[in-house]
Amino acid sequence: MAILEIRKYPDPILRRKALPIKEISQELIDLSKNMIDTMRNASGIGLAANQVGYNLRLIVVDGLKTSGPLVVINPEIVSSEEEEIKEEGCLSIPGYFEFLKRSKRVIVKGIDLQEKELTIECEGIIARAFQHEIDHLDGILFIDRLSPIKRSLFRKEYKNLEK
Ligand code: NI
Repeated sequence: MAILEIRKYPDPILRRKALPIKEISQELIDLSKNMIDTMRNASGIGLAANQVGYNLRLIVVDGLKTSGPLVVINPEIVSSEEEEIKEEGCLSIPGYFEFLKRSKRVIVKGIDLQEKELTIECEGIIARAFQHEIDHLDGILFIDRLSPIKRSLFRKEYKNLEK
């Protein structure tokens, strides 16, 4: 078990588009385990590989009742339904939370560590976590989805939080 360093805004790696994974190596399996440990240690429900310094399309999401933590390689949202506004935060932007509109239900496709195809239907907080983490892989942070007014307030507030 290893706890990785979580990169914080405005680290430039958070802005890079992560690269698709072409093969599942032992390193990737170890990274996935360490990401789960890191996410849990930080009391998060999701983590993207670029948040711990790896520019790869790999995410972990926790909080699923049946399966435990889920590792998804090359995840994609293939359908989304309805919208809801809920409070959201990010382990890379500690201490800042804001309400944000997201899809309420999504279907996510990807690959697991055994190279099996995954189809995950989820809703609520888990659906939100998937949307948030897949955004990370595209270099998008949740603050980018706020209104211009809230974003400028964020910049002021976050400077104070960092002090
Ligand atoms: Ni995040």
